[in-house]
Amino acid sequence: MKKIIITIDGWSSCGKSTLAKQLAKALNYIYVDSGAMYRAITLYFLRNHVDWTQADDVIYALDDIALEFNYNHKSEQSEIYLNGENVEYVIRDLVIAEKVSDVAAIKEVREYAVAQQQRMGRNRGIVMDGRDIGTVVFPDAELKIFMTADNTVRIERRFQELFDKNPNITIEEVRNNLEMRDYIDSHREVSPLKRAEDAIVLDNTNLTEKEQFETAMQWAHKHIEQYAS
Ligand code: DC
Repeated sequence: MKKIIITIDGWSSCGKSTLAKQLAKALNYIYVDSGAMYRAITLYFLRNHVDWTQADDVIYALDDIALEFNYNHKSEQSEIYLNGENVEYVIRDLVIAEKVSDVAAIKEVREYAVAQQQRMGRNRGIVMDGRDIGTVVFPDAELKIFMTADNTVRIERRFQELFDKNPNITIEEVRNNLEMRDYIDSHREVSPLKRAEDAIVLDNTNLTEKEQFETAMQWAHKHIEQYAS
C-alpha cells in the first residue's frame, strides 16, 4: 500500500501530538514531533548561554547541535536526543516553553529544522505535527489537518498536564504562556502559524479523544485510497 504524508498544525495544546501519535501507530507510520526539535534547540541555547539575537552566534551553535529521534519500546513513543542525550522530558518544562517561541522565530533555526524534517519525510509514511508542516515543510502532503479548540479548554488541558509534574504551577502562568506563544507563533515573519488553504479544520472542543481519532482515521483512509488509485 502506498504511504502518504499527514500534517497536523494548530495552536499550542490542542492535542496535536496525541492525535498524531495515534494515527502513526494505527497506520504504522513514523511520528515526528517537530516542536520537540525547537524545544531541544532552545534547551541547548539556554544551557550554553547562546545569544540568539546574534545571527553569527546562532549559526555557530547550530553547527554543534545534532538532533535525532529514537523509539523507546518502554514508553512506546519516539523520543528526542540532543547530542546523544535523551531530552524528551526536560524540554517539556515551562522554562523552555517560555523561550521556545522566540527561538523558533529565528530564520536560521527554522532553515536548520525544516531541512531535517523534510529529510525525515522523504519516503512518505509519516505523521508530523507542528505549526508550519502543511504550509512550509510538506506543502504537497496528501492529508493536512488544522487543529483548534476553545482557549479555556486548551488552558485547562495544559494546566492538568503541567500540574502533574509541578503542583506549584498556577493557571495564570499557563494562560500567559499559551497566549504569548500563540501570539508569537502566528505573528512571526518566517513561517507563521496559519491554516494551509487545503487543510481540513478539526475543532476538538467538544470531541472525545476517540471521536477525534475516528474522524481523522476516516480522512486518512480516504486520502490513502485516493493516493493509491
Ligand atoms: O508543539 P510544541 O508546543 O511542542 O512547540 C513548541 C514551540 O515550537 C511552539 O511554541 C512553536 C514552535 N514550533 C514552530 O514554530 N514550528 C513547528 N513546526 C513546531 C513548533
